[in-house]
Amino acid sequence: MADIILGIESSCDDTSAAVIKDGWLLSNVIASQDVHKAYGGVVPELASRAHEQNIVPVVSEALARAGVSAGELSAIAFTRGPGLLGSLLVGTSFAKALSISLDIPMVMVNHLHGHILAGFVKEEGKPVVQPGFPYLCLLVSGGNSQIVKVNSPLDFEILGQTIDDAVGEAFDKCSKMMGLGYPGGPVIDKLAKQGDPERFKFAKPHIPGLDYSFSGIKTSLLYFVRDEIAKDPDFIGKNKEDICASFQKALIDILMDKLIKAAKQTGIREITIGGGVSANSGLRTRIVEEGRRRGWNTYLPEFKFTTDNAAMIAIAGYYHYLAGERTPLDVAPVSRMADF
Ligand code: KG4
Repeated sequence: MADIILGIESSCDDTSAAVIKDGWLLSNVIASQDVHKAYGGVVPELASRAHEQNIVPVVSEALARAGVSAGELSAIAFTRGPGLLGSLLVGTSFAKALSISLDIPMVMVNHLHGHILAGFVKEEGKPVVQPGFPYLCLLVSGGNSQIVKVNSPLDFEILGQTIDDAVGEAFDKCSKMMGLGYPGGPVIDKLAKQGDPERFKFAKPHIPGLDYSFSGIKTSLLYFVRDEIAKDPDFIGKNKEDICASFQKALIDILMDKLIKAAKQTGIREITIGGGVSANSGLRTRIVEEGRRRGWNTYLPEFKFTTDNAAMIAIAGYYHYLAGERTPLDVAPVSRMADF
């Protein structure tokens, strides 16, 4: 009998539901929340309210598009954390209610585990191209910046991670500070394409090992822009393309330095990226170039699997389910990775 998993993702500001059958994607529905744009960042209370409004229609739509009835589901995979507690509570409570009413098991998923396995979602009509184990995943999003060694679908270890801000936060906060909009990553990515990446230089962190730090470079940009605006109030307007190109290049350099170091240290040449920042065109180009130079096999996720989505939660849940894992109904969501 086929294993049909409903995935539910509600860790931040996207409500998403997906259905997979034996690892093949049948549907993946995402409702993004525009309500946060006016505030230049995600407002947790507004996010959980929007999840409450979205979750029933999003799950219904995912089942309808998959052509699957609720009664045919084998299990429900849901994001337990890390993320915003109120948002996670909506997905977790919904999964519990569905699990009770359908009398099927539920399986909790670590959101980051989903990003790491996003490349394992198989799609009809598309070639199945998956990294071999062990592989390294550069996981870069609004809340995380990590280098993860993935030994098998259920066994992974974090080799390095940010000690302060995530790289996505650096994109978002700097864009907000320059008045360029939210979320910052896509805006900076777009402007960077028209700018000179060598024009401005930013201080690089010196963090030992494979850990990252992005708060220093954020402050470096902040002071630089403030000083220049004091001389010319329209400095940003006149130079935004070059500022974005130089800033983005500095962020990519920081990410790549440690990834190269991790690949050398482990001898692993299977390299993937995941998380919202993996949509960045500069990072994608750079990883492919480095890969060619260093003999890596690089795997880039499709854009739709870079940001938060339930397909990746469903596939991670599928592996947990196959391993016989079941989550009890008294489970509570957790906001921090350390609590998982
Ligand atoms: O994984 P994700 O959807 O969720 C959170 O971690 O919240 O990542 C969102 C992050 C944001 O910081 C956003 O600015 C960034 O991904 N992002 C990008 C791009 N598209 C989204 N960063 C750089 N370049 C992009 N093209």
